[in-house]
Amino acid sequence: MSKDKFYITTPIYYINASPHIGHSYTNIASDCLARYYRLKGYKVHFLTGTDEHGQKVQQSAINKGLQPRDFADKAVLVFKELWQKLNISYDDFVRTTDERHIKIVQRALEILYRRGRLYEDLYEGWYCTPCETFWQETQLDSQNCPDCKRPLEKITEKNYFFKLSEYQNWLIEYIKNHANFIRPLNRRQEVLSFLELNKLVDLCISRPKERLSWGIPLPFSKEHVTYVWFDALINYLSAVGTFDANDSYQSEWWPADVHLIGKDILRQHAIYWPIILHALDIELPQTIFAHGWWLVGESKMSKSRGNVISPLEMADNYGIDVYRYFLLRDVPFGHDGNFSEAAIVKRLNSDLANDLGNLVYRTLTMIEKYFDGRIPNVDLATNEPQAKKIIERIELLPKEIVLYLTANSDFDFSLVLEKVWELINLANKYIEDTKPWNLVKERKEEQLKAFINLLVKAIREVSNELLPFMPSTATSILEQFGKENIIKGKPLFPRIIEK
Ligand code: ME8
Ligand code: MG
Repeated sequence: MSKDKFYITTPIYYINASPHIGHSYTNIASDCLARYYRLKGYKVHFLTGTDEHGQKVQQSAINKGLQPRDFADKAVLVFKELWQKLNISYDDFVRTTDERHIKIVQRALEILYRRGRLYEDLYEGWYCTPCETFWQETQLDSQNCPDCKRPLEKITEKNYFFKLSEYQNWLIEYIKNHANFIRPLNRRQEVLSFLELNKLVDLCISRPKERLSWGIPLPFSKEHVTYVWFDALINYLSAVGTFDANDSYQSEWWPADVHLIGKDILRQHAIYWPIILHALDIELPQTIFAHGWWLVGESKMSKSRGNVISPLEMADNYGIDVYRYFLLRDVPFGHDGNFSEAAIVKRLNSDLANDLGNLVYRTLTMIEKYFDGRIPNVDLATNEPQAKKIIERIELLPKEIVLYLTANSDFDFSLVLEKVWELINLANKYIEDTKPWNLVKERKEEQLKAFINLLVKAIREVSNELLPFMPSTATSILEQFGKENIIKGKPLFPRIIEK
């Protein structure tokens, strides 16, 4: 990653259905990284957006009696409102119907065509409309889509193809030489095995207009529009740069530092995308990170399975920051997780209300009671083991976190939070063991002041580290511990009765 900038992207989401917990997960994780890197002083560019072309959207528009563009304009609002509600601090929102995007897609196609990377041929094969994905006969063991299990359509038509197959060995070598290009490492291994066991076939990048009109017209064929995946991947370029007169791509942000995606779209990102970039003479992204799936019972949460849960509802029921915390804490990034409200309630009651909430509230109460709301400014050199341990943790924590939130460590949000909670728990234990009311009785005022001063330091450090994860909660804690005086608010996390 280059020293001073951090360009992070999310997938651009299909707009034919409302966003569910899975979509919110990717954006919350990206938001956490964007906020973290901003706080570290990086120039951050955080891109999200919507994928608006293709058969699925055309069909959804028809079903509602709308023009695709009008349908899209409405659907996009649902995404933007959700991101605002969840405090997603994106810098740019790209739509594949944006003029800036269409121009770059057409330019990229033109360049590839001129360089002989595209050719016309007859396409025969199987297509899954809901997934917008082609399947080869050899990849199938029934007439259903290997991913979503719904029936495939048999297709025969004239189309344009991109010479994917020529780059197979180059890609294998590239992945082998770049340990952080595909993360986590089990996903990298999956891609390598796939490439080593299968022969890549060229990618069909067009659709006949007579079958699908809702797409970006191919610049060199009136009868075709662009395949939606080719169109969509280019968003990472079209949002942040342009081609110059020599066909050289120019951007202050490129290459992306992280493409954050779910494992469902790893093949497109780890195989098609690097090859498209290479053919365009464009540098590859530093890291493609594929996180796991939120499952309901055994199966992936998805619109097509009809098992989706609304992120808005979760945020309304439990609080936005509780929801964000739960998603990033409960499952190690990269793994699948089982979604359940009982698990949210558990985290809320124990980690948030009990550990963090109590630490903050007890400390505020002591400052109010013993020092009239003024934060004592006494910093005793102490040999007391518990205090020493807390001081050590305060110093160490930021140094650990800076390593955990990198591709090398697979952006280990859960571990970061675990470490933050170690400090919270140390501080709570310190209160229990010190029994401050005894210090008051014994009139050990200096000791009491130093004790509370250290608790405030711990709380400030905890809050600083929590800013990217729980922005409003952390800000509120920092505000309650003002410079000199406290401003005591309501308890941060009201407990919820477990069912
Ligand atoms: O694939 N668990 O869009 P999409 C975790 N338009 N994450 C999930 C999830 C789940 N159950 N379900 C969805 C597309 N996601 C294309 C992308 S990018 C150039 C084009 C998240 O609306 C996860 O990030 O189907 C996944 O990759 C993405 O939503 C798929 O969103
Ligand atoms: Mg999908």
